[in-house]
Amino acid sequence: MKILVIGACGQIGKAVAAAAGAHGHRVFGADLKSAGARFALDLADIGSAVKVMETVKPELTVLCSAMTYVDGCEKTPDLARKINAEAPGSLAALCLNSGSRLVYFSTEYVFDGKNGPYSETDPVNPLSVYGRTKFEGEMRVLGGMKDALSIRTTVVYSFDRAGNNFIMQLMDNYSRGVEMKVPLDQYSNPTHAPELADFILELAQAGKSGVYNVAGADRLNRYEFALKACEAFGFKKDFLKPVATAELKQPAPRPLNAGLKMDKLLAALGRAPAGAEKNLKIIALAKGALK
Ligand SMILES: NC(=O)c1ccc[n+]([C@@H]2O[C@H](COP(=O)([O-])OP(=O)(O)OC[C@H]3O[C@@H](n4cnc5c(N)ncnc54)[C@H](OP(=O)(O)O)[C@@H]3O)[C@@H](O)[C@H]2O)c1
Repeated sequence: MKILVIGACGQIGKAVAAAAGAHGHRVFGADLKSAGARFALDLADIGSAVKVMETVKPELTVLCSAMTYVDGCEKTPDLARKINAEAPGSLAALCLNSGSRLVYFSTEYVFDGKNGPYSETDPVNPLSVYGRTKFEGEMRVLGGMKDALSIRTTVVYSFDRAGNNFIMQLMDNYSRGVEMKVPLDQYSNPTHAPELADFILELAQAGKSGVYNVAGADRLNRYEFALKACEAFGFKKDFLKPVATAELKQPAPRPLNAGLKMDKLLAALGRAPAGAEKNLKIIALAKGALK
């Protein structure tokens, strides 16, 4: 299959491109800056997406680009809406016209975190600009294209030297001997990017559409996740400082008692992602090999 990955240099985009290549698909990468991706594509300029779509003529488009800096979205809500909501809607129309299927990435932040873990049919109530704009993007994509897939995921991590995900931040703080404040009250399902990528490709190939939760097996608070990482990497845990989210004074409110249920995914594919311990061991091996 010919697959266009938009956001190919981001954390999930890299994993999707790698998994698609490993499964023998023809992969074309596009991103805001073309260094590292074959095509430059700015979601704020839908004309750039038209050009790439016309050149590649993908059978499947996986939209991994977004304004993902949750606190930054609070400061520039209009831009966040343009990139996270309007552009995905326009891309869905482009895909429909050109005969490409579309995978959109949504988020657990569509929920308020009062009553997690959540299934795909639970009512949403996003607390932040990021959550609201991502939900609007999901609605526009699914409203414009009935066979589109929207994948809700959360706390995605991977071993990515250029990346800034929670696990890479933890490794960086540990190696520099810097204290790391980690919330005790944010519950969600940490998700390994390579595994996420495999599942979304399988869902797309199985012709699934609509909303699917795809996240790691265990629901942990961020401190519990950090402790599991320390155990897997052989780190002493003293640099971790458990705190309440409120102490971090982040501009965007977070859903605290969140997490995602995997029943729909299990019913569709007969399997669901593994837990953090297994995936952190894989990262520990990669880290050792790359020292
Ligand atoms: N990571 C998570 O925990 C998580 C959880 C739930 C949902 N998601 C969703 O999953 C998707 C991928 O997330 P990720 O973690 O891979 O994010 P990421 O690592 O931040 O990558 C996002 C990519 O989008 C690009 N981008 C930003 N603005 C753009 C624009 N105007 N036009 C084109 N590309 C643009 C970025 O380029 P630059 O780096 O050059 O800015 C980057 O390559 C997003 O939709 C996100 O909302 C992620």
